[in-house]
Amino acid sequence: MNDMQMIKEIEKIKKEKNIKIFAHNYQNLEVQRVADYLGDSFYLSKLAGEVDCDEIIFCGVRFMAETAKIMCSDKKVVLPVEDAECPMAHMVKPQEVLAFKKEHPEFKVVSYVNTTTELKAVSDVCVTSSIAEIVINNMDAQNILFIPDMNLADYVSKRVKGKNIISWNGYCPVHDKVRKDEIFAMRKEYSGYEVLVHPECRREVLQEADFVGSTSAIINYAKNSAAPGFIIGTETGVLHTLKAENPKKEYELLSPSLICYNMKKTTLRDVYNAVTGKGGLVIELDKELAENAKRSLDEMVRLAC
Ligand code: 13P
Ligand code: SF4
Repeated sequence: MNDMQMIKEIEKIKKEKNIKIFAHNYQNLEVQRVADYLGDSFYLSKLAGEVDCDEIIFCGVRFMAETAKIMCSDKKVVLPVEDAECPMAHMVKPQEVLAFKKEHPEFKVVSYVNTTTELKAVSDVCVTSSIAEIVINNMDAQNILFIPDMNLADYVSKRVKGKNIISWNGYCPVHDKVRKDEIFAMRKEYSGYEVLVHPECRREVLQEADFVGSTSAIINYAKNSAAPGFIIGTETGVLHTLKAENPKKEYELLSPSLICYNMKKTTLRDVYNAVTGKGGLVIELDKELAENAKRSLDEMVRLAC
């Protein structure tokens, strides 16, 4: 079966089975094209609890599919590639968080959505990169342990006043590799371009950027800016939407290291196998664990609005 036939079949089966395909902004172009919804972590997590369908095929990494399942336990949720994992989601263990809480009961635990369900279940509130600042600002707590991303924690703690934020030492292996020297070199080559970066990058990189934001915030910023071109400091998958939405502008990837191999594992064939029920991982979560994790996600949605 060629790609065109596969796309046709996917569209047909989607209607028959009342399936919606969710894709994160980092997915391969052919996957983005068959998606019903494309966006950043916050948009997709919130949408999972609101969308009207029987089944969600979540094209992303495992924590994203699990988050969708937590938000809509009555629906079937499938991750097309079983081992599409975000390494950062495992950089802290639930037992470590519980031990910290026991020793420091005055701290609230804020977990980045890039965490396992087990970690969300021992957290007080979840955040995504797009709403971390507003959620933490709206929390009553003064003392916060932010898990696991030290770069996002550092970025947020500079913007939120009057809170004591300490962080775990996790990081995104993709964004953490970027260096400020790469910005200097790119600015020299592409003068007049604006540098847009994700807050998972190091402080030295964020300090040299014109704009810091989530994947969707970067896409939105580029749409509204008058700059002739942009140097993009997040995963290469966002370039598809950037180019499609603003074809007259130019885009350059800040660093060749900005490829998330886990996000790139999902192919059109995997999506086809998932919709036909021949492949992928059907997300199953322990009921009590999922209910505990949902509390921190519900709190995120409440505090973000
Ligand atoms: P967004 O929340 O910006 O979509 O980012 C998710 C992610 O995994 C970034 O590496
Ligand atoms: Fe995880 Fe980084 Fe990939 Fe995002 S880009 S899914 S944080 S490894």
